[in-house]
Amino acid sequence: MVNFPPSGRTAVLVPAAGRGERLGPGMPKALRPLGGIPMLVHAVRALAASHTVDIVVVAAPEDSAERVASMLAEQSFQAEVVVVTGGETRQDSVARALLTLPDDVDVVLVHDAARPLVPEQLVTSVVAAVRSGIEAVVPGLPVVDTIKRIDGAADVECTVDRGPLRAIQTPQGFQRLVLQRAHASADLDDSSATDDAGLVERLGVRVHVIPGHEEAFKVTRPFDVVMAEAVLARRRAAGAV
Ligand code: CTP
Ligand code: MG
Repeated sequence: MVNFPPSGRTAVLVPAAGRGERLGPGMPKALRPLGGIPMLVHAVRALAASHTVDIVVVAAPEDSAERVASMLAEQSFQAEVVVVTGGETRQDSVARALLTLPDDVDVVLVHDAARPLVPEQLVTSVVAAVRSGIEAVVPGLPVVDTIKRIDGAADVECTVDRGPLRAIQTPQGFQRLVLQRAHASADLDDSSATDDAGLVERLGVRVHVIPGHEEAFKVTRPFDVVMAEAVLARRRAAGAV
């Protein structure tokens, strides 16, 4: 039986098992510090602070799962936090976390550990949208650059109309059964879906976009760390953290 509208608990799956290769050599990305605090701790704090999240399931790198578990156990969060071992790909990490959810969870968000500064209001908005009955919700921002399609010789084929384009962020929110169906029908060796909504779209389910937030950006390259440190410094100066 599916409850509609959903009335159970809300969980967030946090894929955090990547190495952070584009960031350069060092610890797994989720463990690298921003303002002296590991990225993953920032991310879990933001999720728990929204007060709409009951459970956070972190998919940690296989070789550091114990370290991640003890690091998170030292913190006090306003949500239950569970750590599982992630997989070879992001999709695999999310699928493993999904398997551990208790039965009474009916709304599931997926949020990248690599988006540590997501504002709690964005988390709340995504949960609210799914709880209002939308099956799949993603935050997105208008694209600011001019976008051109190029050929193999780097010659421009065309300029794409950016008006209807959105750069998609996380947290992405789903009715649990929709996300489960999407992962169950996905091929683990096919990495062509770069987010969970991409898997849901293949089911023919409508995915709705709500306004994203610039501070929910993904820390991918070294410049992003500079930007994240600046955002943190601004929040600290404003007394917000
Ligand atoms: N992720 C994961 N399991 C993987 C690969 C990625 O849980 N096998 C997670 C990352 O930890 C990150 C999120 O998916 O929180 C988004 O991935 P990305 O930004 O690509 O992070 P990395 O894969 O760590 O970075 P890179 O691709 O540069 O190595
Ligand atoms: Mg990656």
